[in-house]
Amino acid sequence: MADGKTPVVAEAHQVDTFHPPQKMLDKHPSKPHIGSVEEYQQMYKESITEPDKFWGRMGRDLLSWQRDFDTVRVGSLQNGDSAWFVEGQLNASYNCVDRHAIKNPNKVAIIYEADEPNEGRNLTYGELLREVSKTAWTLKKMGVQKGDTVAVYLPMIPEAIVTLLAIVRIGAVHSVVFAGFSADSLRDRVIDGRSKVVVTTDEGKRGGKLIGTKKIVDEALRQCPDVAHVLVYKRTGADIPWTAGRDYWWHEEVEKWPSYIAPEIMNAEDPLFLLYTSGSTGKPKGVMHTTAGYLLGAAMTGKYVFDIHDDDRYFCGGDVGWITGHTYVVYAPLLLGVSTVVFEGTPAYPNFSRYWDIIDQQKITHFYVAPTALRLLKRAGDDFVKTKMSHLRVLGSVGEPIAAEVWKWYFEVVGREEAHVVDTYWQTETGSNVITPLAGVTPTKPGSASLPFFGIEPAIIDPVSGDEIHGNDVEGVLAFKQPWPSMARTVYGAHKRYMETYFNVYKGYYFTGDGAGRDHEGFYWIRGRVDDVVNVSGHRLSTAEIEAALIEHHAVAEAAVVGVSDELTGQAVNAFVAIKDGNDVNDALRKDLILQVRKSIGPFAAPKAVYIVPDLPKTRSGKIMRRILRKILAGEEDQLGDVTTLSDPTVVEKINRVVHDAR
Ligand code: WTA
Repeated sequence: MADGKTPVVAEAHQVDTFHPPQKMLDKHPSKPHIGSVEEYQQMYKESITEPDKFWGRMGRDLLSWQRDFDTVRVGSLQNGDSAWFVEGQLNASYNCVDRHAIKNPNKVAIIYEADEPNEGRNLTYGELLREVSKTAWTLKKMGVQKGDTVAVYLPMIPEAIVTLLAIVRIGAVHSVVFAGFSADSLRDRVIDGRSKVVVTTDEGKRGGKLIGTKKIVDEALRQCPDVAHVLVYKRTGADIPWTAGRDYWWHEEVEKWPSYIAPEIMNAEDPLFLLYTSGSTGKPKGVMHTTAGYLLGAAMTGKYVFDIHDDDRYFCGGDVGWITGHTYVVYAPLLLGVSTVVFEGTPAYPNFSRYWDIIDQQKITHFYVAPTALRLLKRAGDDFVKTKMSHLRVLGSVGEPIAAEVWKWYFEVVGREEAHVVDTYWQTETGSNVITPLAGVTPTKPGSASLPFFGIEPAIIDPVSGDEIHGNDVEGVLAFKQPWPSMARTVYGAHKRYMETYFNVYKGYYFTGDGAGRDHEGFYWIRGRVDDVVNVSGHRLSTAEIEAALIEHHAVAEAAVVGVSDELTGQAVNAFVAIKDGNDVNDALRKDLILQVRKSIGPFAAPKAVYIVPDLPKTRSGKIMRRILRKILAGEEDQLGDVTTLSDPTVVEKINRVVHDAR
């Protein structure tokens, strides 16, 4: 066990079990917050059978309240109306900043690693409090009031964290839009969230390339008449278009205001943020999280999943434009008062050693990233992993399934068998990790997200009958049986959609949209989405949204998009397009269609392949059978199953020919 590897159990399943490595425990500053698997089991049991007692204690232990709560939880999954700590009052920025700044103003809060190595800087908790306060004043003076939404279109710079905390300090709601989204996507999210102010930079800088953020904002805002102001942080000093009276420079504004503003006292269930994510249908959903429950989920998982301790230096490689960045770049580490890395660049710039150099130089104890980056770096070669990274204790994986060989590479080559790998499963809607090992505690099996976090009661459901399948060694779709504090409370402006997507599919359960298995030891294995969501490089995309983008092109009659497995990106987008008569089929058109998706959604959603076909496989009632397209792409056209429902069975052969000719 000393080498952390014990190929016990599961002979029938041919899976190794890895225990927390002894070397990780040897370099631990004290000992893990949870002492043993038995202690986890006992706490877990309490969280499920006595949730009021368990969560009441956790809520008081981890958050600072302006006013205590009496009621721990009300509502049900059945009704989709869960609420937590209802009478409690608190402020998120106070919890992330003030309480640490008071005790320890010189402690580093933010480690900024700029795109160019050595151009970064640190911000202490004291400095963070001043920056957040000045920015909060600025937003307030721009007319932002409690309950208003502020859109954030920022690259990964310290000001992204400052902005989020400034927004919640005055009781407003942040709606971050990933700075890789197109102007059209930004516009849709600004309008849907009713944002009145947008915060951005003149430009962004990533992987040595410039991104015209302000230009994109300008283009988006042409169709957003309700946006009164744009606050622009000067990142590169580029010449940018300016709308007098609407646009304000960050550095000129913040200078005008005092370095302290009192935090607005918020109710536990007041909205904290909106974050748009993709679902089965075309329109992105504005997932809404509320204050206390979300913060508790972030703090709890930071403490118990990552086993964060006071002097730790935490590096999550996620972007603040996605939920991973929200919870694990910003909220979890700051709620616990440790130092968090804001990394502006990419793992490949200036070379494939960038992550490893940061981890080594900054004495990082925790690293958390998506498998897509690990696949890229594994392929680049072990020679790039030159540095010692001797402080690493925890290596996290997030956002997509991690293949066993990538898991092992992470453990052996990156972690040198001295760090515990935690494969954390969760979603934008769950707010924080829900099925995950606890660092230093849970034995792990490569490829399995292992066991449920506190308060999460998983159920495997038979998708055909809708019945829960009890016992071990079972497969089905994954749902949860009890509400938990950090679950999303609604889809902004579309509560009906929230109910239909998550609670009405299997009554009394929260439905995740993922397939999963529970093995003979009760470990969970996430199989991937069972709906029309594809996961490209850890980015969650809706096939319907990409189809809608393609159909906007004048030459397109119909489009069907499917996800196919891809060695590097996990899944890749493949599009089948039937074009209107009179258009030439050529490479220029294919390129144009890819451009259409880039423009409509963003570069990260671009199809890897576009097949122009005479017709799509449809049932007699006109429903597109994507299953057939997936089979053709997988070279399994002999296993198409029942095709008698196709309105024109000859279409299969025609599509097959197009795919084969293209390859
Ligand atoms: C997938 C990202 C396997 C899953 C935090 C989920 C995972 C979707 C894992 C949510 C994991 C996330 N193993 N699959 N450890 N973590 N997923 O909302 O399909 O961007 O439903 O949140 O990512 O994606 P989202």
